[in-house]
Amino acid sequence: MGIVELPNLPIIQAAPLEFFVDVAREEHCRYATEICAEMESSAKVRGTGIAKRKPEYIEQKMRDGKAVIALSTDGRFAGFCYIETWSGKKFVANSGLIVAPEFRKYGLATRLKRRVFELSRELFPDAKIFGITTSHAVMKINTELGYVPVPFSEITDDDTFWNGCSSCPNYDILSRTQRKMCLCTGMLYDPNEPRNVDEEFLAQLQQHPPDNEPPRPPIDLIDNF
Ligand SMILES: CC(C)(COP(=O)(O)OP(=O)(O)OC[C@H]1O[C@@H](n2cnc3c(N)ncnc32)[C@H](O)[C@@H]1OP(=O)(O)O)[C@@H](O)C(=O)NCCC(=O)NCCS
Repeated sequence: MGIVELPNLPIIQAAPLEFFVDVAREEHCRYATEICAEMESSAKVRGTGIAKRKPEYIEQKMRDGKAVIALSTDGRFAGFCYIETWSGKKFVANSGLIVAPEFRKYGLATRLKRRVFELSRELFPDAKIFGITTSHAVMKINTELGYVPVPFSEITDDDTFWNGCSSCPNYDILSRTQRKMCLCTGMLYDPNEPRNVDEEFLAQLQQHPPDNEPPRPPIDLIDNF
């Protein structure tokens, strides 16, 4: 059989990936159930525990203007993060960061964290902003925002915050060390002590192997004929 010549097929171009990233509003409450489900399944994949959030809680954060959402231009949920205050508003944490698996590694967590950081500074200008994480991706983003690694003694001592760790498989370490250390790294941005980006720490993070994330599923934002 000879070679069959194929007719010229039209070139299909992937639509550019564009996202809306901004403070969530009432109209975004319809994504709350999906957000909670994604937080839970991602925590299972990573083998970490999380303080389980209910959709009503996420909805309230949106109504209060204390959450940032990312949506794809075709209206799909892409990412989320919200603000939590501790120790009588002396400390703020940017919690619940999640990017939908198909939209990871497009810089969305960076955009969400930047926006929620700006929002935290607007709403609580005197508060220290902190986080605890095992994620190198999050450590990189925090470092670029001016956070520095700190011992747990420099972040909130609010029992409610630390009780949130009780669902983590590593909670026994935290308890055994009287909350002095665990597998998470504590990171802090102190508005009274602004620091330059810790380039040395950032360089160390760049060399670290990737966090344990499953491969990104194929994207289906391809334009049809
Ligand atoms: C962690 C998570 C939020 C990152 O989201 P993302 O949108 O893929 O992150 P970005 O694309 O903005 O990447 C930010 C930086 O982290 C790096 N990064 C992203 N995923 C990474 C991974 N799995 N391992 C190591 N570094 C990673 C990126 O290369 C980028 O670094 P660069 O600026 O030097 O290029 C996302 O993977 C996720 O939702 N994971 C599950 C939930 C979770 O872990 N939340 C954090 C709890 S503290």
